[in-house]
Amino acid sequence: MAAFPQLRLRRLRRTETLRALIRETQLNVSDLIYPMFVVEGEGIKEEISSMPGISRHSPDRLKEEIEEIAGLKIPAVLLFGIPQNKDEAGTSAYQPDGVVQQAIRVIKNTAPELIVITDVCLCEYTSRGHCGIVTNGEIDNDMTLPLLAEMSISHIEAGADIIAPSDMMDGRVGTIREALDEKGFQHVPILSYSAKYASAFYGPFREAAESTPQFGDRRNYQMDPPNLREALREAEQDIDEGADIIMVKPALAYLDVIREIRNTFDYPLAAYNVSGEYAMVKAATQQGWLDEKGVVLEILTAIKRAGADIILTYHAKDAAKWLKEE
Ligand code: PBG
Repeated sequence: MAAFPQLRLRRLRRTETLRALIRETQLNVSDLIYPMFVVEGEGIKEEISSMPGISRHSPDRLKEEIEEIAGLKIPAVLLFGIPQNKDEAGTSAYQPDGVVQQAIRVIKNTAPELIVITDVCLCEYTSRGHCGIVTNGEIDNDMTLPLLAEMSISHIEAGADIIAPSDMMDGRVGTIREALDEKGFQHVPILSYSAKYASAFYGPFREAAESTPQFGDRRNYQMDPPNLREALREAEQDIDEGADIIMVKPALAYLDVIREIRNTFDYPLAAYNVSGEYAMVKAATQQGWLDEKGVVLEILTAIKRAGADIILTYHAKDAAKWLKEE
């Protein structure tokens, strides 16, 4: 084996062409999913203060945004809905004319080839702001499952392509799979938020989605951040129940989890670069403390290097523009 001075690792770093030749990880726009917030009402486009550059749109104001996304060749969007009315059962989550259902129809009319993924979770729709319904002060796992199935079906009936359950109830992937199949939607994939941690990085999202829990927190259903082995069990459970794509969330503080799941399961793997990760980058770059293009492309490439095939990121539009320039 060669050693210095025969061995010189710097030889392959001399020019950009050489570096590109041996580059191990390539970020592509086709890896990205853009998360979007749709708010019930008309004529609404409002920026989220803790997420500069990201706005909530009412369905009638979506067209232009969707044309831009499709024009940038971003393959998919993930939709979150903010309804006008919340109640204990999250009823507006599964109405045929609910805000997400309306948005799906607008998107499909505007850009039929754009993949529409919908977040399935009750937290934006329930008066308690929890991801499941509440019985006697507890988040009721089993009572929540049929509502998640109903919500999934109503999204697919409106034209959505992929269902993404983010609630972290046990058994939801199996329940949703069965309900979809029963309705003749065997072709619809499930992208499951498998290892979703109870993270402080969701702060800006909760402002955007008005989904802050009204009592307690999400620690009795989302995962405890110190745990890695448990993430493998979550992924295994979702795979056993029929998940087609699994996901780790958040991404940056959990790159080891992404790597471990990648090494363990031969399933497509997504990672969610969440609102707090976006807000940190925006805050520092707006101050002039970091170079935005540099850090964003480095972060997204690192998530891919860790093992993610797909990255959900609020930076998707900017990244798509930068990748085109390169
Ligand atoms: C729950 C949900 C959350 C996010 C996605 N789906 C928030 C939570 O669990 O509290 C967070 C996404 C982000 O922070 O960007 N429906």
